[in-house]
Amino acid sequence: MEGTQENGETSVEERVNPPASGLSKTAQKKQLKQQRYEAKKAEKKARMKEEKKREGERKRKEWEEKLASVTEEERSKLIESRKGMRKERMEKRSEERGKKIQRLNEAKEKGQNIVIDLEFSHLMTASEIHSLVQQIMYCYAVNGKCETPGHLWLTGCKGEMESQLNRLPGFDKWIIDKENGSYIEALQDRKDNLVYLTADSETVLDDLDLSKIYIVGGLVDRNRWKGITMKKAQEQGIQTAKLPIGNYLKMSSSQVLTVNQVIEILLKFLETRDWKASFFQVIPQRKRFEADSEPNSEAKSEEHQGEEDGGESEEEDYQSERKKKCIEATSDG
Ligand SMILES: C[S@@+](CC[C@H](N)C(=O)[O-])C[C@H]1O[C@@H](n2cnc3c(N)ncnc32)[C@H](O)[C@@H]1O
Repeated sequence: MEGTQENGETSVEERVNPPASGLSKTAQKKQLKQQRYEAKKAEKKARMKEEKKREGERKRKEWEEKLASVTEEERSKLIESRKGMRKERMEKRSEERGKKIQRLNEAKEKGQNIVIDLEFSHLMTASEIHSLVQQIMYCYAVNGKCETPGHLWLTGCKGEMESQLNRLPGFDKWIIDKENGSYIEALQDRKDNLVYLTADSETVLDDLDLSKIYIVGGLVDRNRWKGITMKKAQEQGIQTAKLPIGNYLKMSSSQVLTVNQVIEILLKFLETRDWKASFFQVIPQRKRFEADSEPNSEAKSEEHQGEEDGGESEEEDYQSERKKKCIEATSDG
C-alpha cells in the first residue's frame, strides 16, 4: 500500500516504517513544495530589485543627457520644474496621509471593530507566522485606503508574532488597538457582542452590526487545525458566524478563506453593503469556476497584490490541488 493517504493522514505503512527524517511522505512533499515556493519567491524578489535598480539608472542617465543637451537657461528651468513637481507630489501625499489618519481615528471612535486573534502563534511555523504578519500588514494598508475603514484590533499579540510585527516599518504609529492579552480580557465588558467568524459556524452572517465586534482567527494553517476557532468560541461561550459565501457562490470544497481575504471582504461590505460584490472583488478569480459572471472587476490589481504580499499562496496551491472551484449560486444556492 502507498504510504500517503488522500486526506493527508499517516498511513499504516508510514506508522510501521516511519521515514528517516521523521516526517510522513505527505509532510515531506509539503515541505519540499514550501521550500520550492520560498526559493521562487526569493528569486522573484531579487529579480524585481535588480529591475528597479536598472530602471532607476536608466532614468537618471536619461535626465542627465537631457540636461546636457540644452542651454544653461533651459537647464535651470528644467531643474526648477522638476523640483516643483516633486514638491506637489509630496504635498499631495501628505494631504492623503492626513485624511487617512482622520478616517482611521474616526473609525476608532465609532467604526466597525474587527479583531485579529493572535493567540495561535504556537501552532504555526516561523514561515506561517511571517505569512500572517504580511497579511496583517496588507489588511492595515487596505483599511487605510477605505472611505469607511474599520477599527482593527490585534489581541494576544506577544512572542514571535509581536517581534515580527514590531519589525514592520512604522508599526508603532499604526492606528489600531494592540493587546498582549486575549480579546476576552480586553473586551470583557462587551463579551455578549463578540462574534467569532468561523467557516464552521452554523449561523450565517447576513449583515454587519456596529455594536458587534467581529473576530477573525489569526491563523495560517493550511487547514491543519480544522475547527479550532469554532471550538474555542464554543468553549468561551461567544457567538459565531460564517460569511454568507454559500448564498452567492458555490464552492466544490472548503469555504475557508485567508485572514486578509476575510478582512477585505468585511471592509468591502462596509463600503458597499453588497456581499456578492464583496466576494467577487476579493476571492481570486482563479479560485472560481469559469462560469462566474463578475459584476464588478474593480480592485483586481489590489487583490492580486494582496495574495502576492500576504496571501497564503501555498494554501491556495493546496486548495487548487483539491480542485477547489466555485460557481455562482443558482436560486437553490
Ligand atoms: C485560514 S483561516 C483559519 C482556519 C482555521 N482552521 C479555523 O479553524 O478557523 C483564518 C480565519 O479566517 C476566518 N474565516 C475563514 N473563512 C471563513 C468563512 N468562510 N467564514 C467566516 N470566517 C472565516 C476565520 O476566523 C478563520 O479562523
